[in-house]
Amino acid sequence: MYELQECLNGEFVRVGPNPKFAPVAGYHWFDGDGMVHGMRIKDGKATYVSRYVSTSRLKQEEYFGGAKFMKVGDLKGLFGLLMVNMQILRAKLKVLDMSYGNGTGNTALIYHHGKLLALSEADKPYVLKVLEDGDLQTVGLLDYDKRLTHSFTAHPKVDPFTGEMFTFGYSHTPPYITYRVISKDGFMHDPIPITVADPIMMHDFAITENYAIFMDLPLYFRPKEMVKEKKLIFTFDPTKKARFGVLPRYAKDELLIRWFELPNCFIFHNANAWEEEDEIVLITCRLENPDLDMVNGPVKEKLENFKNELYEMRFNLKTGLASQKKLSESAVDFPRVNESYTGRKSSIHVIDAKTMSSDPVAVVELPHRVPYGFHAFFVTEEQLQEQAKL
Ligand SMILES: [Fe+2]
Repeated sequence: MYELQECLNGEFVRVGPNPKFAPVAGYHWFDGDGMVHGMRIKDGKATYVSRYVSTSRLKQEEYFGGAKFMKVGDLKGLFGLLMVNMQILRAKLKVLDMSYGNGTGNTALIYHHGKLLALSEADKPYVLKVLEDGDLQTVGLLDYDKRLTHSFTAHPKVDPFTGEMFTFGYSHTPPYITYRVISKDGFMHDPIPITVADPIMMHDFAITENYAIFMDLPLYFRPKEMVKEKKLIFTFDPTKKARFGVLPRYAKDELLIRWFELPNCFIFHNANAWEEEDEIVLITCRLENPDLDMVNGPVKEKLENFKNELYEMRFNLKTGLASQKKLSESAVDFPRVNESYTGRKSSIHVIDAKTMSSDPVAVVELPHRVPYGFHAFFVTEEQLQEQAKL
């Protein structure tokens, strides 16, 4: 007899894109409205719920009854330019209100300072409340007492030992990257601009006990090329080096940042990072020649230009040299580590995939198919109760 044991009490939540309205042009996977699928486990019973993150964008589109906000899938060729201008005009004419954010909350979830946050990298976090019965309520946009004025990555890092959250945002106008530290009790410290030469997409970063690691990778925001070459607004340059910036994590400015170079690549996700004597070790999912157009439209049988491999990269703070080695042949991405080891050395266990599929501990049948999504998270019973007091 299977059993949902007490240690599983809490709510398993996964977020992904689920467009409420048909897009004007193409559908890009990054565009769908955030929908959270939750499975509340309590005292041996499981309840399933799915709820939209009730973003300002979704509420406004519900009012209009159709897609009105600019989407990544629209940003291609001359039509893309038209859509950019349309969004500017709609905001100017106050047809669309951008003051409460324009993101989807569709990418990832994290828990910090008594709050579950739904994140998408082009916007600020949305606070969700997990109710006792497992239902999910959108509380609203979080701006840390107006101290947050830029976008916020979907992959901030919570230090398991200090309880602080480390984060950054990227922008199409300088400063292209802004680094922030949020204290255990939810205070957001002053912004630290990080200089990179061009506007880029930076999906993730990493922390160690003493450092924050930024990735200046050549996936550029290039509106001019979009129009001229009918490309998507983000274009990859295979001729440029991959750059990694290592900054003491409590630095007040970027003066002490050290940049390292490695061969051209792109990275969506890091697994973890830690310090080993003079070196910073980064375990990461490395990609060669990504093409964001591959995730435009219906799910394809094979993502030809997405060959993700697990790599170990090392940055030596004494010699200033960087090195890398491949850890796996097969495609690896969306990595998860035990979060009580974030920023600390963790070992890699190799498991025989043929034998790990022994009897499951429990099986929960869901009332309907849960679509593909992005990232998942587990809200423990303790966290769930703690936020209920908010
Ligand atoms: Fe991600």
